[in-house]
Amino acid sequence: MYQASSVIELHQYMHHWKEHGQSIAFIPTMGNLHAGHMSLIEKGQSLCDRSLCSIFVNPMQFGANEDFNHYPRTLNSDLEQLEAAGCDLVYLPTASELYPEGLEKITHVQVTDLTDDYEGAHRPGHFTGVATVVLKLFNIVKPDVSVFGKKDFQQYRVISKMVSDLNLDVQIIGQETTREASGLATSSRNQYLDTEQTDKAAMIYALLRDIARQISEGKRDYPELQQRALQSLDQAGFKTDYFTICNAETLLPASSEDRDLVILVTAELGATRLLDNIEVSLW
Ligand code: PAJ
Repeated sequence: MYQASSVIELHQYMHHWKEHGQSIAFIPTMGNLHAGHMSLIEKGQSLCDRSLCSIFVNPMQFGANEDFNHYPRTLNSDLEQLEAAGCDLVYLPTASELYPEGLEKITHVQVTDLTDDYEGAHRPGHFTGVATVVLKLFNIVKPDVSVFGKKDFQQYRVISKMVSDLNLDVQIIGQETTREASGLATSSRNQYLDTEQTDKAAMIYALLRDIARQISEGKRDYPELQQRALQSLDQAGFKTDYFTICNAETLLPASSEDRDLVILVTAELGATRLLDNIEVSLW
């Protein structure tokens, strides 16, 4: 596996691929890789000739009080996993190369509509940081395909909208969420949970599945379903930021006519924010 930490180096490695017309799948990450990230690499490899993963803990998408400084950085283990998975190239950009004049002076990419609620409301500026770095990475890598996890469903939709709105020449693929045996969505932040919290955290997906089942069986009183879910989470000791049944395209609260739904939830357990979702198709 090749490693590049500058744009020039990266382009040197990629030169031959481009010359030979090989297609490139790009998987942007912030490292601390786990089975969820590796499923994106595998997906990319199944679609393209070459796979390229970036690891960059992007300061622009963290709020002032968030865990940028404490975000787990595990480069050696990340590189081992990528090597074992047969990833062709890893790009390790530096902040000084991506943001030479700092975070304030760079052009900001603000994706409209989809970024106002949920994570956007809870983390002001977060999606601007995500969209800006992803657009820069797309322009540097020029991939044919880029794979994003549906674990971060709003992020997946924001990136898809940016690509569509700005006519970017890349195909965005959404990959299903990798889960632990308990159903808990695999996440870098799960390591902040103690044993008891880890057991309890599995309740989130169990609840999502239960509500999804009720909707599939014909229940349409979404506010009531949401209210009951909030109560269950509250009783179990979660502090829920949102639990909303949404239109999967617009992410607006779903109406009873909508056919493609997603239930978005974020709940805090102790100091850890847990994000999850489930899609429901009513076709
Ligand atoms: P990061 O949190 O490292 O996630 C990188 C990719 O892995 C994202 O597309 C995310 O949705 C996906 N992912 C995480 N957990 C997953 C799981 N359990 N199953 C499937 N996919 C999973 O998301 C980011 O980094 C950043 O915002 C980034 C897009 C790299 C921009 O900085």
